[in-house]
Amino acid sequence: MNEPDPTRQSRLIYMDHSATTPTHPDVVAAMLPYFTERFGNPSSLYTLAGISRKAVAEARGRVARALGASPSEVFFTAGGTESDNWAIKGVALANRHRGTHIITTAIEHHAVLHTCRYLETQGFSVTYLPVDRYGIVDPDTVREAVTDETVLISVMTANNEVGTIQPIEEIGRIAQDAEVYFHTDAVQAIGFVPIDVDAMRIDLLSLSAHKFSGPKGIGALYIRDGVNIDTFIHGGAQESARRAGTENLPGIVGLGAAIERATSDIAAHSRRIADMRDRLLAGILADIPATYVNGHPVLRLPGNVNVSFAGIDGEALLMLLDAEGICCSTGSACTSGSELPSHVLMACGVDPALARASIRFSLGEMTTAEDIDTVLSVLPETVRRLRALSPVKI
Ligand SMILES: Cc1ncc(COP(=O)(O)O)c(C=O)c1O
Repeated sequence: MNEPDPTRQSRLIYMDHSATTPTHPDVVAAMLPYFTERFGNPSSLYTLAGISRKAVAEARGRVARALGASPSEVFFTAGGTESDNWAIKGVALANRHRGTHIITTAIEHHAVLHTCRYLETQGFSVTYLPVDRYGIVDPDTVREAVTDETVLISVMTANNEVGTIQPIEEIGRIAQDAEVYFHTDAVQAIGFVPIDVDAMRIDLLSLSAHKFSGPKGIGALYIRDGVNIDTFIHGGAQESARRAGTENLPGIVGLGAAIERATSDIAAHSRRIADMRDRLLAGILADIPATYVNGHPVLRLPGNVNVSFAGIDGEALLMLLDAEGICCSTGSACTSGSELPSHVLMACGVDPALARASIRFSLGEMTTAEDIDTVLSVLPETVRRLRALSPVKI
């Protein structure tokens, strides 16, 4: 049976790079031999396996270089969700004797929030710090939340829904002064926010390849040498006996290639995307009345536009845009289908009706100026149509 292929739709405009990105052809090319002729298990002893081992080591070196870390501090995982789970549960369980308190924020990804909720059922207590209307965590609130029982602070580098970038360096310093481990979920930040784990005093950092033109199902956890953390996946001796399971060899090679590309010129890459983002936002604000911008005006990811159009339903807008070949998102892809307004927008104090009226465009490497023009030619009329049907008059 021939399934419809949406990517062959001539007018497909992909503006959901925060959900995932297409794997770059150069990354695919780097991966391909590791599915076929270079397929050896890195743990085996013959020459073929040695080729795989070397490829894993090279990829580890690339990830380490991108973070300012050393290769022995990089551990491959199945993605951002596993890295977050490992960092938080691993540190909490290994340091239980020192204390059972964790500090995080109300706007974390569910990979962090649900892990913390789980730990609450296991005797840990968690402080979920508030954010201001732009989604920023006040470092003073972090300092004030630390107690003698605190073992971990987990604050994301950049938010996936509104794009707000946190004062990570300041929070890192607070954690270091308090002698508390500091984890950051940098899944959305890699390729946009320059990372230096030493300068930012980061002890643990989560990343995921599919957010920066790498493949899905592969990520890494940076663990600073000396951090006391439990093993999360038990089994064989892979990853220095700290994360068991035969390595996802093509994925690891793809992650290495993707992170090197994504971090080779962050400033130029970000500027190009931010220019398009600014034009999109200016066009939206000029043509669509009663539009509210969510997130911080400046401290935000270059590709993120999150806006609420008063009087409409975000999901209805998403469907109409999809029919026009435009892919975008309401809040986070992980919460779509849920009746509840986004926990991030609620934490920013956005009115629930406006939170439900929000839409996120996330631009990326493949976004073109023509894409922006097309969205700006379709969106105002689509919002007008929805508002005409709405009982709420704007
Ligand atoms: C901030 C953040 N953390 C974690 C994740 C989960 O990453 P993965 O899809 O690799 O499991 C995502 C994915 O949307 C994310 O945006």
